[in-house]
Amino acid sequence: MHTLSCAFALCATLLAQEPKVDFVREVAPILQAHCVSCHGADKQKGDLRLDARVHAFPVDEEEGSVVAGDVAASELVRRIELPDGDEERMPNEGPRLSPESVAVIKRWIQGGAEWPESGDAFFEAERQKLVIPKIDFGIESPATDAQQKIDDAVALLRKKGVLCERVAVDSAALDCNASLAGAQFGDAEMEAVAQLAPTLVWLNLGRTNVTDAGLVRIAALPQLRRLSVANTSVSDVGIASLGVLPKLEVLNVYGSKVGDAGLLASCAMPQLRKVYAFASAVTESGAIAVASKRSDLVVDRGEYATQRVAAAEREVAERKRREEPANEQCIVSGDKPSKEHFVDVDGLRVVFCCGKCKKKYEDDPAAFAAKVEELRKKRQESVGEQKQGQ
Ligand code: HEC
Repeated sequence: MHTLSCAFALCATLLAQEPKVDFVREVAPILQAHCVSCHGADKQKGDLRLDARVHAFPVDEEEGSVVAGDVAASELVRRIELPDGDEERMPNEGPRLSPESVAVIKRWIQGGAEWPESGDAFFEAERQKLVIPKIDFGIESPATDAQQKIDDAVALLRKKGVLCERVAVDSAALDCNASLAGAQFGDAEMEAVAQLAPTLVWLNLGRTNVTDAGLVRIAALPQLRRLSVANTSVSDVGIASLGVLPKLEVLNVYGSKVGDAGLLASCAMPQLRKVYAFASAVTESGAIAVASKRSDLVVDRGEYATQRVAAAEREVAERKRREEPANEQCIVSGDKPSKEHFVDVDGLRVVFCCGKCKKKYEDDPAAFAAKVEELRKKRQESVGEQKQGQ
């Protein structure tokens, strides 16, 4: 007995000598990924929560599922080590924990199962990531008569096919999307949009018939955060007539006639952070000029999109060229080659007249190396000419 407990003590000492487990960095992510969905704030299967210290180590129970310093007495360890198929195994669905994860948990318990406050904070932060942020624009509900005006305007806009909704049930803020009404929606309808002024936060006029003249109606809208005039005929004049929209954060002029002057005018809007200007009349130098004035304003001209398209085109061309035979005569027999019999030598497609010739080549490529090299030179020359011609 004596020796046994000595052996146990020795073993414990050895275990204790291993580097200490960092709960937040090593253990908490395992619990979060594999256990908290059933043992957390939302579900407490088996009355167990593993997402906060008070729950994981309940004071009123004799033994929690984790017994600090005693791996063998910890129910949690027994559960994660049960064989697959045992219905008490945890997690009781899906793949088991990796041996590394099990080892980390055992070392953590052996070392005292410390659960610092930052551990609770970890799980709380993970939970917050899943909570959809409440959209609160801090807009007071308008007085009854003002609200009536808004409701009337909303009803009218809806009749015209405009989507007009509160951004959240508990918010007075309005999202108005006219892009689905398309050409049915024009400057005449902007009168109704103007009525929404106290609560309108998002306005999408994309693909509508709205012109510069119509935009005058929404000049200085006090609550507007986002505005899109994408694919409309709106130009610099229209943007200038908006004046200062004090809360505008995002402006989309994609595919419109807005150019550098309009962009410059939008610089006066203090909260503006992003302008989408892909396929508009905004030039590179116009975007650079704005960048020097407003370092907090990002002008997205979609350069990356054009670059990506160009890169993809180059790759397709390159692939085609690699599949284009490099030789007009079979390099073994000198006969007319067939596309079916080929080898690719470092990106160069060499074709043969028949399978036999191909085999001859494959049996002794060195014998044909000079010929292949010649073909490669020819190919490089023709590519060079193509490039110069471009
Ligand atoms: C898909 C849901 C699910 C997942 C994921 C899950 N469990 Fe469970 N767990 C249960 C259910 C259901 C019970 C209650 C039935 C039982 O005791 O087997 C339970 C019970 C337990 C118990 C016993 C509690 C007690 O006091 O009786 C422990 C310990 C436990 N789970 C640990 C874990 C650990 C550790 C993980 C992650 C590695 C995990 N569970 C993942 C569903 C789950």
